[in-house]
Amino acid sequence: MDVQATEKRGVAVSRKVGPIILLGSPGAGKGTQAKRIAERFAIPQVSSGDILRENVARGTELGRKAKEIMARGELVPDDLVNVMVGERLREEDCGRGFILDGFPRTPVQAAWLDRFLEGKFFENQEACGPPIVIQIDVDYNKLVERLTGRRSCPTCGRIYNIHTQPPRVDELCDCDGSPLVMRNDDRREVLAERLKAYELQTRPLVEYYRKLGRLVDVNGDLEPDEVTAQIAAAIQSFGGHVKDSTWT
Ligand code: AP5
Ligand code: MG
Repeated sequence: MDVQATEKRGVAVSRKVGPIILLGSPGAGKGTQAKRIAERFAIPQVSSGDILRENVARGTELGRKAKEIMARGELVPDDLVNVMVGERLREEDCGRGFILDGFPRTPVQAAWLDRFLEGKFFENQEACGPPIVIQIDVDYNKLVERLTGRRSCPTCGRIYNIHTQPPRVDELCDCDGSPLVMRNDDRREVLAERLKAYELQTRPLVEYYRKLGRLVDVNGDLEPDEVTAQIAAAIQSFGGHVKDSTWT
């Protein structure tokens, strides 16, 4: 039997979780939920947007190529993003599972990921097998308020919202006191482009994964704790994939 539950931070951890994908429009809560699920299941969050922003901040070649595209709210070319994500997924901490936030985002990226997960790299890894795909659905009218009100901590990455999830002290991170920042692409003039890119290029993936029987719809309009509970239940419902049944 390949299940060995161990205790980590008081939470039972199964050896295998596998690949999890969070799909959802800008502002749907992917980053917020990915952090919670990553902690709960003790797997890494792999956020293509975060990795790209780090590259922009460090001025790498990838960052230089991506900077203007991201500032316009358009998608970075598939080949650049696929290589970047592939490098991250080959790291050792992804071996028993990972949660993808913001990837795949186009049919080309989804096809690349299918091949990657079937490929030799994962042959002996716990993270092999088809992904569980969680689609976080949020009322369109809420998205703009969520995005224009978002602030995040540049030190620990924690996400806030000045309307719905404010920090205890104005504009300072609860965890480390860093001054919170607003994302460059959360300006109103860029939001329309990001939402359009989602509808045209990413929305088709919902049907792609639904037809494969891998998709679970989650109501993202609810409070964050309730959304987390839905996602955790969905992961558990793929019982053949998440081997342990001790999640609560
Ligand atoms: P990326 O960083 O992936 O941004 P996004 O998809 O536009 O999504 P966001 O990060 O804006 O929203 P989120 O769903 O994470 O919501 P969050 O949890 O923060 O991509 C940025 C750019 O990088 C792209 O435009 C593109 O250029 C490039 N890129 C990235 N990946 C790419 C790829 N694969 N291919 C090509 N290009 C790529 O929450 C939002 C706000 O709502 C927060 O304030 C939060 O506090 C609040 N909130 C969250 N949940 C709730 C709730 N339940 N109730 C009330 N408020 C809530
Ligand atoms: Mg995000």
